[in-house]
Amino acid sequence: MLQMFTLYAVVILGVAFASGQMQELDGEWEQFKTKFNKNYDDDEVQRRLTWEDNFDFINEHNRQFSDNEVTYQVAMNEFGDMDLEEFISTMTGLLSSDEKPEEKEFVDVEGLPKEVDWSKKGYVTPVYSQGQCGSCWAFAALGSLEGQHFKATGNLETLSAQNLIDCSGPEGNMGCNGGLMDQSYKYIEVNKGVDTNLSYPYVGQNGKCHFTRSGVGATQKNFVDLPKGDELALQKAVAEIGPIAVAIDAQAQGFQFYKSGVYVNKDCSPAILCHAGVVTGYGVQDGTDYWRFKNSWGTSWGMDGYMLTARNHNNQCGIASQSSYAIV
Ligand SMILES: *[C@@H]1O[C@H](CO)[C@@H](O)[C@H](O)[C@H]1NC(C)=O
Repeated sequence: MLQMFTLYAVVILGVAFASGQMQELDGEWEQFKTKFNKNYDDDEVQRRLTWEDNFDFINEHNRQFSDNEVTYQVAMNEFGDMDLEEFISTMTGLLSSDEKPEEKEFVDVEGLPKEVDWSKKGYVTPVYSQGQCGSCWAFAALGSLEGQHFKATGNLETLSAQNLIDCSGPEGNMGCNGGLMDQSYKYIEVNKGVDTNLSYPYVGQNGKCHFTRSGVGATQKNFVDLPKGDELALQKAVAEIGPIAVAIDAQAQGFQFYKSGVYVNKDCSPAILCHAGVVTGYGVQDGTDYWRFKNSWGTSWGMDGYMLTARNHNNQCGIASQSSYAIV
């Protein structure tokens, strides 16, 4: 016992000297743990080191923001104890599919509104929290269906991602291990509906399918995939149809800790579509065109759960590479 304790102390001391910041940030670390309800066992030393890396990134990035070198701000959040690799593997969940850009057809956007926000028109449900489950694809597909269901019926229903996680395996989805929006629409069509979140509550873990017909919140006839990589086609659909499900490259610390401003990241790639969400509108802020992106990481991430991400920036982060909507 004493030996183990000595070993542990030596490891902690070693780490403390290596990081150089250990004591200086003690207070901040305690605050982080309290604020986000973190309880660690023997992994605290490693978590602390990861958090310090993220803490440094956030400070440096926000310094660049003050100096007008970057367009958006970041902030510490509940994901502060995860490195990018762990974050992407637990908090996203879009399966890969072949997304080669298509020949662009001419889309006339001249007559479209300069700004659209479907939240203001009642089309958008509250922000969901996917937890440590790769279920982004489910929330993205449901976000489109919720909007179209509202358009058709005037009722805004929060729909059940858990229903899709547990039941859409035959269509190719893998629950918390990943899925695709198109496969979710296919399930809802075959199943003749999807339950409400109330009747089939979210647990964020793979479970056995227990769909109930009486709990159905929306049905759907068909779905449409927009032309891949075409932001003007996406703009037209967002303006004329409603909220649209999209895929996105989220693989960046700037994304993990995004807080506000228009997300411009030249290192983003349309080839790495690991995450999905809903475009609920678009507009222009301080001369930069943006998409309004509804995420499923709770309301403490970003702007109450939303991000403004660059629009007409060469399909930045692949925002128009895999977009789709439900037809009710
Ligand atoms: C969905 O259901 C879960 C579990 O009951 C709940 O915690 C969550 O707030 C619901 N989400 C929404 C947006 O209503």
